[in-house]
Amino acid sequence: MAFLEIKNLSRSFGGLRAVENVSFNVEKGLIKAVIGPNGAGKTTLFNLVAGALEPHSGDVIFKGRSIYGLPTHRIAWRGISRTYQNIKLFNDMTVLENIMVGRHRKSRAGFLRAMVPLPGTRREERESAEKAAGFASLLGLSDVLDARAGGLDFGRQRAVEFARALASEPELLLLDEPAAGLNIHETLELADLIRKIRDMGITVLLIEHDMSLVMDISDEIAVLSYGVKIAEGPPKDIQKNPEVISVYLGDDNA
Ligand SMILES: Nc1ncnc2c1ncn2[C@@H]1O[C@H](COP(=O)(O)OP(=O)(O)OP(=O)(O)O)[C@@H](O)[C@H]1O
Ligand SMILES: [Mg+2]
Repeated sequence: MAFLEIKNLSRSFGGLRAVENVSFNVEKGLIKAVIGPNGAGKTTLFNLVAGALEPHSGDVIFKGRSIYGLPTHRIAWRGISRTYQNIKLFNDMTVLENIMVGRHRKSRAGFLRAMVPLPGTRREERESAEKAAGFASLLGLSDVLDARAGGLDFGRQRAVEFARALASEPELLLLDEPAAGLNIHETLELADLIRKIRDMGITVLLIEHDMSLVMDISDEIAVLSYGVKIAEGPPKDIQKNPEVISVYLGDDNA
């Protein structure tokens, strides 16, 4: 049994088939990448797995149970967390508060109850804050815990998003173009961080356009083009797959 099974997933928008009968598995403990040209359906696929979009057909099986059609918070409770292609932070909240939003998904009290100080909630909040600070430290954010998230530079906002996603202690982490907008140095740090996350036992499904990053860190790659999976395999096979080269790598490697 695979950790995550994406089975015959399809989603269209009007007449546009954004994801068309896509199937692949993600094995536990690996870094798997989903690549493909702009508009290939990668983010749509993530939205289907994370419950942000209702699938039109197919199934998503996580740890042996279907999560098809569940709301996002239920999927988060099952152990899937994500970052977004366009960073989504609460700009007027502090770094620590943003990361604690990730904790609330995990805590027994839940997000709404956490807003109301009931007995037991305060202790849970304090523990949450300590855990959140730990994830901030992992991302090099310890010196900006009380800073307004909206005032940080782009690289650090990305780091806050990562910390928030990790704070829910997911088993599967979905990363949508984490290297977008990062410089070469930051991208190398990101590669180390993603490996570290994998070594913590968290399975990673990664959408990324930076081919050197993808080829460097992925254990396996699935390639989408116009919503259809056209190839799947280890980086060394994907790099020399003629169909992949023609639809995607051709321009980059010219
Ligand atoms: N909510 C939506 N409504 C209508 N069309 C959409 C919607 N979301 C995505 N699409 C379309 O579906 C197709 C796939 O989009 P998607 O965002 O999944 O691609 P992508 O592979 O993530 O691309 P990129 O690399 O540019 O992020 C595109 O043609 C896009 O315009
Ligand atoms: Mg996208």
